[in-house]
Amino acid sequence: MRLAVFASGNGSNAQAVIDACRDGMLDAETVLVVSDKPDARVTERAYEAGIDCFAASPKSFDSKASFEEAVHKELSSRNVDALVLAGYMRLIGSVLLSRWAGRIVNIHPSLLPSFPGLDAIGQAVEAGVRVTGVTIHLVDEGMDTGPILAQKPVTIERGETKQEVEAAVRAVEHELYVDTLRWWLAELKEESLCQREH
Ligand code: GRF
Repeated sequence: MRLAVFASGNGSNAQAVIDACRDGMLDAETVLVVSDKPDARVTERAYEAGIDCFAASPKSFDSKASFEEAVHKELSSRNVDALVLAGYMRLIGSVLLSRWAGRIVNIHPSLLPSFPGLDAIGQAVEAGVRVTGVTIHLVDEGMDTGPILAQKPVTIERGETKQEVEAAVRAVEHELYVDTLRWWLAELKEESLCQREH
């Protein structure tokens, strides 16, 4: 399966996916990194891994639709099978959603539907919950609302700082994303083969 990984910042999750493909832990290849932030660390990670990178600010396009048309062109010219959002801090719009329906997956650092949106870990620490976690879900038009594929809890110890919780959540994210992509991509592949036969 040919993956495009979308990220806006550091890209530690993107790196986990890239490494898993390279090390044969995933039966897939990362063929493109997409970033809406041209100076994000993830763009260097793509360069270091020798992966093509489309990095452009949506502000430099006339509209969200024209930005997504440009992204779509990059995806289709590389025969991408699935879009893996890994810290991509932008809602996917109708151009990409309609063309990649059921093929876009996202990771979120909370047990959805709790703490959707920005700074989910900060929200959890602020709320004083003792358990938060990680969710992998399909992407729909909402903010962190699509069907859930997998979840894993992370315990917050008394007195733990946001930074400590972030480190614990990040470690779980890297593992859970790869484990979930393994079976989800296998299912997608199966579906594509069935569609081709009919
Ligand atoms: C992760 O917590 C991801 O779940 C969230 O944004 C963060 C990105 O971290 N959507 P990184 O850039 O992958 O290190």
